[in-house]
Amino acid sequence: MNNPFKFGSIVDGDFFTDRREELLQIERMLNSDNHIILISPRRFGKSSLMQYAIS
Ligand SMILES: Nc1ncnc2c1ncn2[C@@H]1O[C@H](COP(=O)(O)OP(=O)(O)O)[C@@H](O)[C@H]1O
Ligand SMILES: [Mg+2]
Repeated sequence: MNNPFKFGSIVDGDFFTDRREELLQIERMLNSDNHIILISPRRFGKSSLMQYAIS
């Protein structure tokens, strides 16, 4: 069976899963005067989340 997941780079399209609540939060923030800072250990999905949110 092929691995359905993609590792090692920013994921988008069908490889990007879930994050529904986070995407709503980011949309609200972008429509407000607030800034966004994402803090997490590496490889927790920060870059993928922001790339997807603005695409
Ligand atoms: N929403 C997501 N759906 C599926 N896999 C994800 C998702 N976000 C991150 N990943 C997985 O985690 C890895 C690291 O994501 P990345 O966005 O580069 O994290 P960070 O910027 O926090 O280091 C990706 O290569 C991918 O394998
Ligand atoms: Mg990153």
